[in-house]
Amino acid sequence: MFAKSAILLFLAGASVAQQFAKKCEITSPSCSLQGSTDTCCVAKDGWIVYAETWIPNKGPSNKFTIHGLWPDRCNGTWSDDGCDLSRNYTNTGDIVLARDPRLHRVMDRIWPSGSGSNSDFWDHEWNKHGTCLTTIDPPCLADYKKYDDLLMYFKITTAVNTKYDFYKSLADSGIVPGANYTRSSMEAALFKNAGLRTLVRCDKTGTFTEIWAYFDILGQDTFVPRVPDYNPTDCQNVYYPPKTVKKC
Ligand SMILES: *[C@@H]1O[C@H](CO)[C@@H](O)[C@H](O)[C@H]1NC(C)=O
Ligand SMILES: *[C@@H]1O[C@H](CO)[C@@H](O)[C@H](O)[C@H]1NC(C)=O
Ligand SMILES: *[C@@H]1O[C@H](CO)[C@@H](O)[C@H](O)[C@H]1NC(C)=O
Repeated sequence: MFAKSAILLFLAGASVAQQFAKKCEITSPSCSLQGSTDTCCVAKDGWIVYAETWIPNKGPSNKFTIHGLWPDRCNGTWSDDGCDLSRNYTNTGDIVLARDPRLHRVMDRIWPSGSGSNSDFWDHEWNKHGTCLTTIDPPCLADYKKYDDLLMYFKITTAVNTKYDFYKSLADSGIVPGANYTRSSMEAALFKNAGLRTLVRCDKTGTFTEIWAYFDILGQDTFVPRVPDYNPTDCQNVYYPPKTVKKC
């Protein structure tokens, strides 16, 4: 008896896991349920863009790295200042390192900044985008302590990265670095091999930079691919450069 409760106490104390305060029974995209007052279960900004980037001198040579997970309003607009300045956090790298060193290691590997410090980049993604995901607002989390919302945003975003392997989905259709491809063939490969609805992005020289995957959100953190809400005409032919880093 004593041993059992001691173990339970130990587990409770050792746990750093952030949890939702309640279970949501939502089976429709949040944008079809606009006006709901239950913003813990129905995301207010429910058009989700998940962006991964191809930075030749960063990250594993056979992996895209995360740019961010961006909750847009259901009319396709967003706020450049994020959605809650009272939770505008800085030094998020130190916060994650202190609270969840394993998550920090993962983020260092698959969520590097293109230039500048990773922590500054993560601050920006959280402040501009993470604060717009209403399903992780403090009242939506169990036993909320400061920064649980931040850790939740990073965990949810890295989980999407784990679920989808953009590099492999392209490679499965023979699309690998070192050649030119049409944008439509790349987007078709991501749909065929992973069910993703995407936009391939490039820079002014036509070099491949990013993949934006579009999702509806169901309930707290279930993402379902959705056709993009805008249709750019650029990047028709893109050069997919090899990475200069050698590590896998
Ligand atoms: C989009 O929705 C926001 C928030 O509801 C509103 O303030 C904004 O005017 C809308 N923009 C457009 C272009 O519909
Ligand atoms: C919010 O944080 C960013 C850093 O990510 C900083 O540049 C900005 O000035 C902050 N805004 C406010 C209103 O504190
Ligand atoms: C890709 O296309 C560009 C522009 O048409 C061309 O200059 C370049 O040589 C091509 N690269 C490869 C690897 O085919």
